[in-house]
Amino acid sequence: MLQGYWAQFLEVTEEAAIAALQLCGRGDKNAADQAAVDGMHRAFARATLKVRVAIGEGEMDEAPMLYIGEELGSGGAECDIAVDPLEGTTLTAEGRPGAMTVLAAGPRDALLHAPDMYMEKFCAGPAAKGALDPEAPLGENLRRLAKALGKKPEELRAAILERPRHEGILSELRAAGAAVQLLSAGDVGPALATCLPDGDVDLVVGTGGAPEGVITAAAVRCLGGEFWCRLRPENDEERQRAREMLGGAADRLLMLQDVVKSDDLVFAASSVTDSVAGPRPEPGLGGSYVHSLVVAGGTWRRVRRFVPAN
Ligand code: FBP
Repeated sequence: MLQGYWAQFLEVTEEAAIAALQLCGRGDKNAADQAAVDGMHRAFARATLKVRVAIGEGEMDEAPMLYIGEELGSGGAECDIAVDPLEGTTLTAEGRPGAMTVLAAGPRDALLHAPDMYMEKFCAGPAAKGALDPEAPLGENLRRLAKALGKKPEELRAAILERPRHEGILSELRAAGAAVQLLSAGDVGPALATCLPDGDVDLVVGTGGAPEGVITAAAVRCLGGEFWCRLRPENDEERQRAREMLGGAADRLLMLQDVVKSDDLVFAASSVTDSVAGPRPEPGLGGSYVHSLVVAGGTWRRVRRFVPAN
């Protein structure tokens, strides 16, 4: 079972977080991203796994590291990964909270090979499972979610990216009386928080990156939460790619099991700035403590690891 390899995936996000930390608050998001990519690449080279990148940094002809289709690891258990070496590049460059290094791993072809385009997503915790209707208007689902959580609608806590495209959704959240956390970037962390007992978010809704959506869905599936989505292509080329990938309408409703097709999953995230995975790495004598969240199958743990300076 892939779940048994969780420590190796964790080392990958830990090493990337330590590398990206050096670029935190320095105004250069590309350099921060590259540092995280390099850190992951180094750690994967040591892994006793046979890893294929299903979602990564880009297409092979763009020649980045962690390109889609790249094979990593020194051999062993076969798996696919969806990886975002630095979720929140701008957050890191600006020294804001919410930045993490993240990846999800599953058996070959278990993760939707979502192209780099937008995706409309809805995510809530385990209480929502079976209590909502993806076809219903948001207002109705807010009422149902509040009921499932044993709350009044005005006690709901939502998170949404602060974007002009979300004005309509924001109005509906306001109309229901929900408390809304407006995110400048980074919708993976709050989505995870909906599924954790100490999370401070009940739902995340709105349109963000599709790759981030698949990574989120893997964690949500392990944690028993609710997730659905629709790809939101913005031009003919994206529409064509989406149709080919889904074998049907580009914007069809995708449920959790359409996005992540196995329970044998590992999700790992390490904080670069303070995030749901824990506080930002802290310097210690001769190295740094890095904080992570790792979800393997139906269990999760928070880990604080000392990573020596080299
Ligand atoms: P970064 O590219 O700075 O890492 O941002 C990631 C992110 O904020 C995701 O969390 C989110 O899904 C997506 O970008 C939103 O995209 P946009 O900023 O184009 O609305």
